[in-house]
Amino acid sequence: MNKEKQPDDLFPSIIAHAKEYGFIFPSSDIYEGLSAVYDYGPYGCELKRNIREYWWQWMTLAHDHIVGIDAAIFMHPTTWKASGHIDSFSDPMIDNLDSKKRYRVDHLIELHAEELKKNNQTALADTLLQEMDACIAQDNFTGLKELIDRYKIKCSVSNTCNWTPVRQFNLMFSTQLGSVSDEANTIYLRPETAQGIFANFLNVQKTARMKIPFGIAQVGKAFRNEIVARQFIFRMREFEQMEMQFFVKPGSQKDWYIYWKEERLKWYKNIGIPVDNLRYHDHVKTAHYADAAVDIEFNFPFGFKEVEGIHSRTDFDLSQHQKFSGKKMQYFDTETNQHFIPYVIETSVGLDRLVLLILCNAYKEEVIKKENGPDDSRVVLKIPPPLAPIKLAVLPLTKKDGLPEIARAFIDTCKTSFKCFYEEKDTIGKRYRRQDAIGTPFCVTIDHQTKDDQTATIRYRDSMLQERLPLEEIKKKISAIIRLPL
Ligand code: GAP
Repeated sequence: MNKEKQPDDLFPSIIAHAKEYGFIFPSSDIYEGLSAVYDYGPYGCELKRNIREYWWQWMTLAHDHIVGIDAAIFMHPTTWKASGHIDSFSDPMIDNLDSKKRYRVDHLIELHAEELKKNNQTALADTLLQEMDACIAQDNFTGLKELIDRYKIKCSVSNTCNWTPVRQFNLMFSTQLGSVSDEANTIYLRPETAQGIFANFLNVQKTARMKIPFGIAQVGKAFRNEIVARQFIFRMREFEQMEMQFFVKPGSQKDWYIYWKEERLKWYKNIGIPVDNLRYHDHVKTAHYADAAVDIEFNFPFGFKEVEGIHSRTDFDLSQHQKFSGKKMQYFDTETNQHFIPYVIETSVGLDRLVLLILCNAYKEEVIKKENGPDDSRVVLKIPPPLAPIKLAVLPLTKKDGLPEIARAFIDTCKTSFKCFYEEKDTIGKRYRRQDAIGTPFCVTIDHQTKDDQTATIRYRDSMLQERLPLEEIKKKISAIIRLPL
């Protein structure tokens, strides 16, 4: 069934499934939600936690010389002047004068290119995208407006081409520190976690006695006033980033950039993402702080889109903080007796985007062929077992004859090793389907034979095959499968 469903239909099904099965809810749902803000339900928060935990372990355990921090969301406002966010953290936008709807220019043009492709005008779409890239690379807003006019790109609401000029809008949220509302007290909700790492560079280097090359990892919330908020949790106004800044000797940044580019792709393979659904996308125009940048993109139902950015940030951030704070941000190399400002390679991934990636990769609608009788169907989330919210469901065949007690006793032996779920209501078939829908990789059915020989049937989510094994062996088997490589 999955193959037959068009991507346009598939994505709404994934969003509906995520809500119905307790993964992701619109924020403030009882008040009709808040645009581009979402809450994670019982299974979503477990999935998110598992991804976060694996990233953290891979960064701080599997890699030598990476330590973590947890910086505050609020930072001194000069941070954002130094980082360039106050002056340049903006996107080119355009407003339609009839509908009053505001668009990010690149999104508007990309959408039009997709339409052209759908109408078999692929060459024209490619030319349009190339022209757009060239304009963006030169900050040529007049050129972007000319493109929109020349290709007669319309607003999807008003269906007109009545556009304003292209303008820049800053994406940072601001608020007031203390009780007095004046300009001097304006502070910002951080739009990236990275600056908390840069500001703490010397604190960390000295206290953890780090020698270059070394990295600082951080997971935390970031906030951006995204104008075009769409595609579910792909583009949110409040989201979580997992960033790592790797400090290196000037001149070695190219080698480290290549290293982290390859290393990060391995991480996606480790969590079971098929390589065909991943690709690199080199930036045409790098951000104000970078001398090289690449995105790792995943093939979402709405096309290949960025999940992670790997940036060679030069010494821009530390130099800027040195300039604005008046504090030396230099490292002293005891081998060469030299002071220098380190260069930085950054890996930056959106945790929410990873949740979406896992859900999109896992969601399958399957037809089950039956030899006798009509075909059956199921919706299954084939989440890699180590990331699955629930690892094992233990299901007593009946509610009597001591089977529930055996099931609960088995859960007691497993629950400190991995997340278990107990259910006794409904037929076994219905219970299997519910576990398929939340992505539980293993179900164990406790039956009357279990009472005699301590064996039970384990049913595998993906193949739906079943086998009878001793309970002790089932626990060992699951414990081994749910470990991710470090
Ligand atoms: N420190 C560098 C930085 O923030 P970025 O490319 O702007 O770079 C890094 O963001 C990652 O953060 C993106 O690849 C994406 O996964 C995630 N991200 C950015 N904006 C987001 C948003 N509005 N909603 C969800 N995730 C977002």
